[in-house]
This record gives sequence, structure tokens and C-alpha cells, in this order.
Amino acid sequence: MSAGTTPRRTLTAMKVLVTGGAGYIGSITAKALEEAGHVPVILDSLLTGPRAFVRDRIFYEGDISDRDLLTRIFDEHDDIAATIHMAARIVIPESVQLPYEYYRDNVSKSLELFDQLVALEKTRVVFSSTAAIYGVKADFEVREDDPLDLTSPYAHSKQMMEQILRDMAAATDLRGIVLRYFNPIGSDPDTESGIYAKEPSHVLGQLVMAARGQKPAFTITGTEHPTRDGTGIRDYVHVWDLARAHVRAVERFDEVVEAAGEPSVVINVGTGSGVTVRELVAAFERVFGREVPLAEAPPRPGDAIGAFANVDRAHELLGWRHELSLDDAIASALAWGEKRQEILGYE
Ligand SMILES: NC(=O)c1ccc[n+]([C@@H]2O[C@H](COP(=O)([O-])OP(=O)(O)OC[C@H]3O[C@@H](n4cnc5c(N)ncnc54)[C@H](O)[C@@H]3O)[C@@H](O)[C@H]2O)c1
Repeated sequence: MSAGTTPRRTLTAMKVLVTGGAGYIGSITAKALEEAGHVPVILDSLLTGPRAFVRDRIFYEGDISDRDLLTRIFDEHDDIAATIHMAARIVIPESVQLPYEYYRDNVSKSLELFDQLVALEKTRVVFSSTAAIYGVKADFEVREDDPLDLTSPYAHSKQMMEQILRDMAAATDLRGIVLRYFNPIGSDPDTESGIYAKEPSHVLGQLVMAARGQKPAFTITGTEHPTRDGTGIRDYVHVWDLARAHVRAVERFDEVVEAAGEPSVVINVGTGSGVTVRELVAAFERVFGREVPLAEAPPRPGDAIGAFANVDRAHELLGWRHELSLDDAIASALAWGEKRQEILGYE
């Protein structure tokens, strides 16, 4: 029987540590855990994530590398069954400018976190990785074992963390499910969290700003790539679907690792369809009902041409597939654009 047709089981409620749980994906994953009957425990330094996204959840403000704090969290919640490790610096062009900060915060601090989890015998880790580490393939569809091509310090830091998790899992009781996210967009079903950067670097955030007149035009960065229309290709996955993939990963953690036959397994999380920037703009205009002013510019430093996910492994091991469409995700991002001032206090 394939994982997708596994009958519903009665699941016990779990407590799950979510590092970076005040962030965009972390806060939405916390909500998806709650909707599935679980209890998220948030650890976030608020380096970038807004306090408003923590809501009324169990929250520890602090750094992932603070071993005393980690010990206290697990003393106070010794029923935490797994850790979802999302805390990181995430802006690709910024990583080109600030390599020290990216390697320190993403790599060194994760090393401390993983080692302390081993010491505390809390060894189930779901780790947020990225499709930004894949090399370019002629057909743009990437499988987990395809070659990598690391084009920014951010991508290097994520690949290093995957490697660290793999090596530590081979040598200790640590176990890892590495989710390589493609391009998350949108908000949660209640529009309570979304992109919070004042000047979002993500393509959809920029489109929303251009559409709402907060910037003069949407700039397509890179128009001479070897794709069907010259613009970058991405696999846009609704963030709510992505959040649900984490719920599956923690609920099925032991079975997934056992089925994978390795102590650390990598799984793509995307829709399985590639969308170019021009196609995204067309979809956006369709959902928004109006044209968006456009400009063109060369690629930003560290930008990749892109890829879309082969999702066979996510289906097989997690029993997960995306359910929401690109138009759903765009509508959700637009709804967040309308709502975010109320929640964040800025447009
Ligand atoms: N957003 C994307 O497009 C995308 C794509 C692929 C992978 N990812 C990965 O998903 C994860 C979450 O991304 P996001 O978009 O929600 O980013 P985000 O910046 O909104 O969230 C990251 C959170 O981590 C916190 N943080 C950073 N360093 C910390 C530290 N040392 N200790 C404690 N907290 C710390 C920040 O305050 C923030 O709340 C990241 O690991 C990112 O690399 C994101």
C-alpha cells in the first residue's frame, strides 16, 4: 500500500519544539501543528521574526545555541517528542554581503543545537533546508539525489547543516528528516502570518507591493536564462501545504526514518510543477484582476535559475502532496497584504 492510501490512525497529541517559530514558516507550522491536535513550543531570538507571530503559544525568547536554555526547555517540557529546526538567516543576497553572520548563525549555532539535543536524548530533528542548493538541470526537475550547486553563502550554510546532521546521525542517536523546501508563498487559512519584511525580497512580496502601488514596478531579475521564456523557474508551494508536510514529518518520524533505511533522509517539498517568473506574473494578474507595472534587470547576486521538485519521495514517505493551487496561494498572499498592517503595525 502506498503511503498516500494509508488509513487514518488515531494519533497521540505531541509537543514539538519549533526553533524559528516566530518566523514566517515557523509560525504557520505552529498553527498547523495546533490544528492537528499537537502543541508547539517556540524557541526564537526574534532576530527577525515579529513577536506578534508568537501569539499565545508557549514561547522561549533566546538563541538556539544557548545550551542552558535548551536544557531548561526540555526540563520544563520533557514530553517534547521532536524538534523542527527552522531558525536561520535566510536572505540570499544578504548572505553574499554577510558571510560570517550566515555561517555563524546557521552552521555553528545549529551544531551546538544538534549536540545539545543528543546530550538531552531528544534526537528527532526535522530540518528546514532549501531547493536553492540544487544545480541546474536541463529539464529543471530535481530529485533528492541530484547534484548540488551552491551559489551563495546561504546555500552553502544549508548544505553544511544537512551534512552535519547526516554525519551526526551516523555517529549518534540523532535522527534527521531534512525537508528541502521549494518556494513557499501565501499565508495561513486565517491570514494571521505571512511575509513580514518591510521590503520583501521574495518575488511574490514584491509583486504585492507593486500591485498595491507601494513601489513603482515589479522588477523581473534575470530575463536571459535558458528557460521557456528566459525568466527564472520556481516551484511555488502554498505555505499552508508546506506547514502540513511538517506535521506529517513529526507524526510519522520513526516510520519515515525506518522506511528510508538511513538515519537522516532528505525529502523535497514542492508541488512538482515549474512556474517561470513571467507565468507567475500572469497568474498574479489573473487573481488580482489588474496588470502590474513591470521592469527588467540583471539577476541579483547569488540568484539561481531555479528548479521544480520531483515529489515522489514526499508522497511515498510522508504520504504528503500539495493540495492548494498557485491561484489559492496568490489570493492568500494578497489577503495577507491587506491584513499585515493590522498585525505588524506597518504596511
Ligand atoms: N522562506 C523561504 O522561501 C524558504 C525557502 C527554503 C527554506 N527556508 C528555510 O525555512 C526556515 C524558515 O524560513 P522563514 O522564511 O520562516 O524565515 P524567517 O526569517 O521568517 O524565520 C526564521 C526565524 O528564525 C529566528 N532566528 C534566527 N536566528 C536565530 C537564532 N540563532 N536563535 C533563535 N532564533 C533565530 C528569526 O528570529 C526568525 O523568526 C529557514 O531555515 C529557511 O532557511 C525558507
